[in-house]
Amino acid sequence: MNDKPTGIANGLTNYGDRDFSLYLRRSFAQSMGYSREMLKKPVVGIAYTPSGFNNCHRHFPEMLEAVKRGVLAAGALPIEFPTISLGEVFLNPTSLKFRNLMSMDTEEMVRSQPMDSVVLMGGCDKTVPAQLMGAVSAAKPSIMLIAGPMMTGRYRGERLGACTDCRRFWAQYRAGKVSDAEINQVEGNLATTAGTCAVMGTASTMACITEALGMCLPGTAAIPAVHADRLRAAEATGAAAVRMIGSTLTPDRIVNQKSVENALRVLLAIGGSTNAVIHLAAIAGRAGFPISLERLNALSDTTPVLVNLKPVGNGYMEDFFAGGGVGALLRELKDLLHLDCMTVTGETLGERLAAEGESWVDRTIIAERAKPLEPQGGLVALFGNLAPQGAILKRSAADANLFEHEGRAVVFSSLEDLAGRIDDPALDVEAHDILVLQNAGPHSASAMPEAGYLPIPKKLATKGVKDMVRVSDARMSGTAFGTIVLHVTPDAASGGPLALVRNGDRIKLSVKERRIDLLVGEAELQRRASEVKPAVEAPARGYARLYAQEILGADQGCDFAFLKPRG
Ligand code: FES
Repeated sequence: MNDKPTGIANGLTNYGDRDFSLYLRRSFAQSMGYSREMLKKPVVGIAYTPSGFNNCHRHFPEMLEAVKRGVLAAGALPIEFPTISLGEVFLNPTSLKFRNLMSMDTEEMVRSQPMDSVVLMGGCDKTVPAQLMGAVSAAKPSIMLIAGPMMTGRYRGERLGACTDCRRFWAQYRAGKVSDAEINQVEGNLATTAGTCAVMGTASTMACITEALGMCLPGTAAIPAVHADRLRAAEATGAAAVRMIGSTLTPDRIVNQKSVENALRVLLAIGGSTNAVIHLAAIAGRAGFPISLERLNALSDTTPVLVNLKPVGNGYMEDFFAGGGVGALLRELKDLLHLDCMTVTGETLGERLAAEGESWVDRTIIAERAKPLEPQGGLVALFGNLAPQGAILKRSAADANLFEHEGRAVVFSSLEDLAGRIDDPALDVEAHDILVLQNAGPHSASAMPEAGYLPIPKKLATKGVKDMVRVSDARMSGTAFGTIVLHVTPDAASGGPLALVRNGDRIKLSVKERRIDLLVGEAELQRRASEVKPAVEAPARGYARLYAQEILGADQGCDFAFLKPRG
């Protein structure tokens, strides 16, 4: 610790008289029962995000007590404060719309309240990226405490985990293979404990990425939410936050080009969520540098998929934790990583791995480098005249038979159009067609929902068709699977070429060439472009107006332009 004012004496409220401000603050703090001695201690803030609308965070009260225990035992005063919480399935139109709002809330509350370091408690999909974005911008010593994944449930002897199994059963229900009564029983067994989705979805991916970035304690990303180790991790995180006080271990330093590259390696090796590309771009953007999709492809070509979890494999997060967790994965990837990256403990990544040494690894869950699940990374960026600024395909969750595919476009102009016609028996669609969804990107009124996993039209699903090439400017849940081209940028609502696709056009996907192309002549495309009308009316007021004015494309992480660092 250094000699600067600490604790509640920091950042006084401005009444024009500094001593009066401190006296008044102490007085009001004492009204909460704190002694004067306690108020002389340095303060660890705890960004606390439980919510009745966030099932994934329902164990946070217990975790909070453990964090406070760790802070107090290490000699500081823990003070929790609320920020917005984003429960993935409770937000309309989509949680992504509010990620930047949560990041602003986090940044401003961390910066403006008197704390010397901060523990950020997050877990559900958008909460962790929002907190990391806010923390990088606030630039105070910060450490993440991850919620941890749910345990699996059971249905007729089969393990179930949100939410890959949610989709699998729903697809069977749509195909008429699961009854109403059965789907109701499945519904009650998909998400049975506190914590985040049990597979390698977006929340688990962001947890692993947080550890790879060096922003949480080693070995803590994958601990199940209900495991006693989760509480011990919370206690240790509180103590670590005290050690960070007065240090230069700030997230704007820990997050840099090398640590983000480590995070991308981990993302690829876990076959992680496509959403993480957007979130990492936003986090990196706050630190002042972009993520290049060409670089993502170069990393993907040299990073094997090693983790056998749903949706690309068989296991669940509880298996990953028991099988060695992120530490074991990092050891497998060691020669591909930047080991000089600093972490929240004050150790470099290399020092961490050296200190941990070797330990038992479940090779059915975390494969050896010599025997990878896939020789190349789970994600690939595509370019071409349909996506000049890029698109993403999760090849590890896709059907390789469709990687080189040309087909006829069946176009849906909006989510409403999709919902209205996808199951229409009269829909003109064949199994080898390419389904296209427009106006579901960040600039659309729907704010880039996880709608890229277009359902297989019922008339084809009932005939046994399980996968088709699907193309959109939307996102996809990290728990979903299929040959699905996402994040087409620029999006249709901002005038991208996706808006120019018409029923019957030919589209060519080539994963080998990293391209997605609309096979229509330039003159015709220009004619169509002159006819396209703006898809969105500017909202009149409030956050929706701010969103519409400031939202950036997927290639820039869908951050707000004004939140990027100057220069
Ligand atoms: Fe919170 Fe899936 S709903 S992580």
